Amino acid sequence: METLIQVSYLVASILFIVAIKLLNSPRTARLGNALGALGMALGMIATLFHKGILRYEWIVLGVGVGSVLGAWMALKVKMTAMPQMVALLNGFGGAASALVALAEAERSQALTEYFASPSFSPTTLAIIALSVLIGTVTFSGSLIAFGKLEEILSGRPFLLPAHHYQSLGWLILSLIMTVLYAGIQESYWLYGVLGASLLLGFWITLPVGGADMPVIVAFLNSLSGLAAAATGFVLQNYLLIIAGTLVGASGLILTQIMSRAMNRSLWNVLFAGVGSSTSTASAGDRTVRATTPEDVALMLNYAREVVIVPGYGMAVAQAQHAVKKLMDALLARNVEVRFAIHPVAGRMPGHMNVLLAEADIPYERLYEMEKINPDFPQVDVALVIGANDVVNPAARKDTSSPLYGMPILEVDKARSVIVLKRSMNPGFAGVENELFYQPQTYMLFGDARASLEKITEALKEL
Ligand code: TAP
Repeated sequence: METLIQVSYLVASILFIVAIKLLNSPRTARLGNALGALGMALGMIATLFHKGILRYEWIVLGVGVGSVLGAWMALKVKMTAMPQMVALLNGFGGAASALVALAEAERSQALTEYFASPSFSPTTLAIIALSVLIGTVTFSGSLIAFGKLEEILSGRPFLLPAHHYQSLGWLILSLIMTVLYAGIQESYWLYGVLGASLLLGFWITLPVGGADMPVIVAFLNSLSGLAAAATGFVLQNYLLIIAGTLVGASGLILTQIMSRAMNRSLWNVLFAGVGSSTSTASAGDRTVRATTPEDVALMLNYAREVVIVPGYGMAVAQAQHAVKKLMDALLARNVEVRFAIHPVAGRMPGHMNVLLAEADIPYERLYEMEKINPDFPQVDVALVIGANDVVNPAARKDTSSPLYGMPILEVDKARSVIVLKRSMNPGFAGVENELFYQPQTYMLFGDARASLEKITEALKEL
């Protein structure tokens, strides 16, 4: 049976690696997702045959409650609330690893008392404490990330005096107690690690604000993987070690990709408290040119090429199908249509790709930022649908802006720009957008889906 379990773990690990590979492209992502789920199911079923499991009542209860809750969340969650859900699930992953490590600590304590001699080596005890440390930081940090994204907490950075020294203090305290626990195996040191790391998670995430939250969610995702891998070492479970390491490594890579998309380092994201001051530029007496769906239809009709720039507002308005209808109407009139995709448009990695794929917009029409930016000066019309921060030229010009340095889609260089949004409100980073005041920019105010439907209708009447 043991051999069978280990072989199942090996197959599950291979399935995870193939799944990650397939998740690389939208074309193969569904299959990748299915293979990943299959690997997970295989790993769980194999574990149920472990000789250490004596009773199944609690497991059945856990699987039942977890499945019902998981299915309910998956069905209920809105696409726009996905980042919060990911943050919460990361937190639960970290908490699960910490709880398993605590249970192992209790077992070790009981064995030590029974045999009147140490049952676990200091190294194993240190790994138990590390698992509690990383898992708990992931849990408390994810709770704050969830609270900020769900807007239960303010999205602005929260910094106490000498905040980062306090965080460093919690980290050093956790590590000292880890060493003490490994040395003398008194469980109060382990619960000390638990308390200090709970605070450390809060302290690390509270100063992170505004536009940096996605990077933190990816970072916490990576930590949840490391916590699982550490628990895998405690339990000597190879699948947990491999799966945890995969999550840890891929989370770190994603963190790096996202930091780069904002032209920031992870260090800067964690410690700079960006977002505490917002740009002071105000509308003043500058003019904004409002337009109508009929005028937009005319402009699009006479364009040779239109580049559509989707953003978070397209997700809120669920306008992807209306975008597809407009694209079809334009293509029927021989107007070339491309889509410009910013790596952090929306609220989660790949947000725009997922929505556009849902509306059957061919993947070949989607262009990444680096590819399409040089073309903007030749583009007749850039149609910005609910995007704001990712097209804000302040990122290029205004050194005082919190967005400064973030690579943007350079729609301000297009011959004319049409922006679909409901008001002059700023985007996620809370920063005003110069683009809206440019002479070649026209604002079409209203819900993006309703506006798109009106434009398509007007286009058909031309
Ligand atoms: P944002 O800067 O958030 O702007 C979205 C705009 O959509 C808002 O200005 C809003 O203006 C408009 N909007 C909202 N609902 C609308 C509706 N129903 N119809 C029409 N417009 C609507 O979006 P973005 O340009 O996509 O930038 C993303 C931002 O989120 C970045 O700062 C990024 O760093 C951050 N972020 C990204 C992620 C990832 S991984 N993608 C995760 C978390 C945060 P009105 O209110 O005036 O309509």
